Amino acid sequence: MKFFVDTAEIDQIKELNDLGMVDGVTTNPSLILKSGRDILEVTKEICSIVSGPVSAEVVALKADDMIAEGRKLAAIAPNIAVKVPLTWDGLKACKVLTGEGMMVNVTLCFSANQALLAAKAGATFISPFIGRLDDINIDGLDLIADIRTIYDNYGFETQILAASIRSANHMSECAKIGADVATAPAAVIKAMANHVLTDKGLEGFMKDWAKTGQKII
Ligand code: E4P
Repeated sequence: MKFFVDTAEIDQIKELNDLGMVDGVTTNPSLILKSGRDILEVTKEICSIVSGPVSAEVVALKADDMIAEGRKLAAIAPNIAVKVPLTWDGLKACKVLTGEGMMVNVTLCFSANQALLAAKAGATFISPFIGRLDDINIDGLDLIADIRTIYDNYGFETQILAASIRSANHMSECAKIGADVATAPAAVIKAMANHVLTDKGLEGFMKDWAKTGQKII
């Protein structure tokens, strides 16, 4: 499973990228707001750090306007994936932009039917939002599993990009189901390293090591 980091914070992207943990980046208008940066500038900087797909989201609501914004965003760098919302206009924009050779990430997906339409429109990525479904007491992981089944049934090549990930558990569950990509905040990716028995074990080793009175360096 590929890891994308869901942020527009350069320091976080650099830290994970240096460790080889970043296969791509996703941003959205809320993350751009949080970064306090200009969308074109920060997206260009991210693309200079990460060689994999960097999703940049359109903000227009009409297909023609989304297409114009998508072309402008895609001109930033060859690794831009234009992010469009899963609306009828977004699907139209997806079809046109993928037809022009751009990568398109169809976002704000909350149902298997929406994912099916995105695949028909030629989406490169479909982004089902797990956490926001969990927030309304619908199991977001079930949606990932349903989309996996549907795409495999018909050989759709659209990659399942599990999004709105809130916990390390979401990451391993997505990997078990077979999501192609998971995008998560840097804190969630780092939290995957944590285990209470690792902490306890390390504490024990440190206590015993201190008793040996030895040093390695
Ligand atoms: C993905 O592309 C989205 O930017 C993101 O995962 C949304 O996550 P949220 O529901 O935590 O805002």
